[in-house]
Amino acid sequence: MVFAPDLMRDNSGNIVVSDNDMYRRRKEILEILQKNAYGFMPSKVPVEGRIISKDPKTCSGNAVLYNTEISCIFNSSVFHFPMSLVVPNGSGRKPLIIVINFRPCLYDMYIPVEEIIDNGFALAQIYYNDITSDDGNFEDRLAAFFPRNNDSAPGKITMWAWGVSRALDYLLTLGWFKEETIGLIGHSRLGKTALWCAANDQRITHVCSNDSGCMGAAYARSLHDGGESTSVIASAFPFWFCPRFSEICRGVNALPFDQHFLLAAIAPRCVLVNSASGDAWADPASEQNSCVGADPAWRAYGVKGYAGQLNTYNENEGNFSGRIGYFKRSGIHFLGRKDWQSFMRFINNHINSNDEIIAEGE
Ligand code: GCU
Repeated sequence: MVFAPDLMRDNSGNIVVSDNDMYRRRKEILEILQKNAYGFMPSKVPVEGRIISKDPKTCSGNAVLYNTEISCIFNSSVFHFPMSLVVPNGSGRKPLIIVINFRPCLYDMYIPVEEIIDNGFALAQIYYNDITSDDGNFEDRLAAFFPRNNDSAPGKITMWAWGVSRALDYLLTLGWFKEETIGLIGHSRLGKTALWCAANDQRITHVCSNDSGCMGAAYARSLHDGGESTSVIASAFPFWFCPRFSEICRGVNALPFDQHFLLAAIAPRCVLVNSASGDAWADPASEQNSCVGADPAWRAYGVKGYAGQLNTYNENEGNFSGRIGYFKRSGIHFLGRKDWQSFMRFINNHINSNDEIIAEGE
């Protein structure tokens, strides 16, 4: 299979071979994706956080729940959003997983809180609508600070991702978490968001996109029957992207990127792509194709990228050994326990094999 456009040829036509080349190429890739797909990532602003209340009887008394508020300080005014944080008891810094979710309640069908805590992870939960609404309202909450006034103005995916990075600004001030294990997970449109956030924010060491599909992990040029196309997503959800994406999405072969670019911008850190066998809309085989297509970026850094098979996996199988993992769950479009177990296994695999992930600044 040919992965076009060529990830490993830079804008001047030179082939990317070394880690330094790839380091520079990542900036070009981000620019291509910002300009044509998701919109430019706004600069950071100062952030403050505060604990509003605390419950030490969380998860059978084995963790403390902190209800917190994040404040983003703009020149004109301050934007606040809530975040729940659950930290397992015991001394020492904890590995952290951030989840951006569809509903405000921490105890949600997509989040097996106690199981995550029992595995030793701290958990931060953000409700995406608290950042900005999932619609074309560009006055709503954070969107009011980022006017949609040019072709590459940020879409909603960029705004949700920006919000996650600001939450991380605060989380890292607490000194409670292992900076070499900062995970992020999202499902579906929020899986697209998780990948985009990790592509931009190098403090995220492990990211998992769950059933993220079109404009997430799925390689658009290999679209299979029943899968979502770039033109369909742009007409149904134009507000997720920058205005320019709606103009260029129709001829998929003319797009100056494909989704292996998105994964490659995460290199040399760790990315796990979770699919579900009964989720044709998210196109599991194309989600796996991007893993294969992005692999050379990790090789340029001299680390193991995708170590899995080229063919589609059987249900509930995957490969967790490289820094690009892939797992295919049985069942439908959902963020379930097996998806979380797959992510925790992927992270633990790197920890146990002393594959040290260096977190960088944003
Ligand atoms: C729609 C959309 C997908 C998206 C999904 C979701 O089905 O077409 O691209 O991933 O919603 O977020 O649930």
